[in-house]
Amino acid sequence: MTVHFIGAGPGAADLITLRGRDLIASSPVCLYAGSLVPQALLAHCPPGARIINTAPLSLDEIVAELSAAHAAGQDVARLHSGDLSVWSAMGEQLRRLRALNIPYDVTPGVPSFAAAAAALATELTLPGLTQSVVLTRTSGRATAMPEAENLPAFAATGATLAIHLSVHVLEKVVTDLTPHYGPDCPVAVVWRATWPDERIVRATLATLQTAIGAEMERTALILVGPALAAEGFEESRLYAGDYDRRFRPVGTEPRFPDAK
Ligand SMILES: C[S@@+](CC[C@H](N)C(=O)[O-])C[C@H]1O[C@@H](n2cnc3c(N)ncnc32)[C@H](O)[C@@H]1O
Repeated sequence: MTVHFIGAGPGAADLITLRGRDLIASSPVCLYAGSLVPQALLAHCPPGARIINTAPLSLDEIVAELSAAHAAGQDVARLHSGDLSVWSAMGEQLRRLRALNIPYDVTPGVPSFAAAAAALATELTLPGLTQSVVLTRTSGRATAMPEAENLPAFAATGATLAIHLSVHVLEKVVTDLTPHYGPDCPVAVVWRATWPDERIVRATLATLQTAIGAEMERTALILVGPALAAEGFEESRLYAGDYDRRFRPVGTEPRFPDAK
């Protein structure tokens, strides 16, 4: 028996991995985080599966369900939105399972920052502009931010920021970022990327709040940085004609004689 933690992707039901889909199909128990995991994924559960929405449950109640499945020798598909490596509450569940000697494994999913970048058809790391993406958030009711991890500190690097869980404090986000990126810095907000009601607003730090209006939906990602609207970036060296590399050596004398 294994508890399979599965990244369910950002929303569209076909943005789960084949491995994740097959694990759902072979697990007689499925626990899913109902607030963001698409119901359509539950269609992969086998007939008669025990399917539980964990949105109203406490950690103790979730672990009780996992323990009961373990006692019955039944595999569990445990679905969380996006990928499990960020803001999934997987860590605390794994720690409980380790204490109970219940086996688990982890299957990655498409994270929401990647889904939002795809919706914008944007590469977040452009040569000569920025080579880093910061996945971050602001303080919430349940989670305080460590002191050093604040938006002005990240903004000082000039990296592309992917700010989660923060669209309700947009004014503060703009105030914190403007001194570093400048008012003309491009911004995009993507609500519910890949869901049927996906919405995108592109603006600058100066025009963002007016452009958004009274939008209340909270499932949104704020992407900020020069890469979001740049045309004046360098081409990467990877495909440069004079760049000597293993699969496309320059000149008659191959630099990598072993390469076939
Ligand atoms: C609890 S976190 C979950 C993050 C998730 N584990 C991931 O890999 O992206 C929820 C936040 O992720 C972002 N998010 C999740 N799904 C999204 C989507 N489809 N479109 C835009 N933002 C999304 C929003 O910022 C939302 O407030």
